[in-house]
Amino acid sequence: MNRDVEKVLKKLEYGVYIVTMGRGQTGNAFTASWLTQVSSEPPLIALAVKNKHQSSRLITESGVFAVNLISEGQKEFAKTFYGPAESGYKKLDGITLTDTPTTGSPVLNGAAGYLDCKVINRLEVGNHILFIAEVVAAAINSDKNILTSTNSGLHYAG
Ligand SMILES: Cc1cc2nc3c(=O)[nH]c(=O)nc-3n(C[C@H](O)[C@H](O)[C@H](O)COP(=O)(O)O)c2cc1C
Repeated sequence: MNRDVEKVLKKLEYGVYIVTMGRGQTGNAFTASWLTQVSSEPPLIALAVKNKHQSSRLITESGVFAVNLISEGQKEFAKTFYGPAESGYKKLDGITLTDTPTTGSPVLNGAAGYLDCKVINRLEVGNHILFIAEVVAAAINSDKNILTSTNSGLHYAG
């Protein structure tokens, strides 16, 4: 990537979320920032997942995922989930989860809230897969500010 393009792209502000998928402890989770709302009626979000990540395959297979909101003070919690894709270790081992009533995706009990999402479209965009998903249910249990690229210093460059 051109250095100027890289430098300016790094200035963009994002939320820092944890996306969960699959079934219970056998599912997976990863720290995600390239995520935004793209429609209000119906409520749709777009999430970019690197094509090499096991998460892009798992979301493609199940067609559902959850976006866990993380509070400003939970930076270390967010870090738990961006382990190397190649390691194959189970990131959800020892993590307390609850399945959402709507899609059954696992959500993190320690999260500030979640969006429960059903994929309606999948596009291959460069080295990422863009999932467009309908938010079919949601819950919030904290009014703290969420973790962002600015307040955490965590940036994703792809
Ligand atoms: C702050 C932050 C944000 C991230 N955002 C994304 C993202 O939006 N999409 C993505 O594919 N990877 C993102 N990552 C990288 C993944 O979390 C990381 O590669 C993870 O190991 C992927 O999980 P998996 O290999 O189990 O699928 C981000 C990492 C960090 C630290």
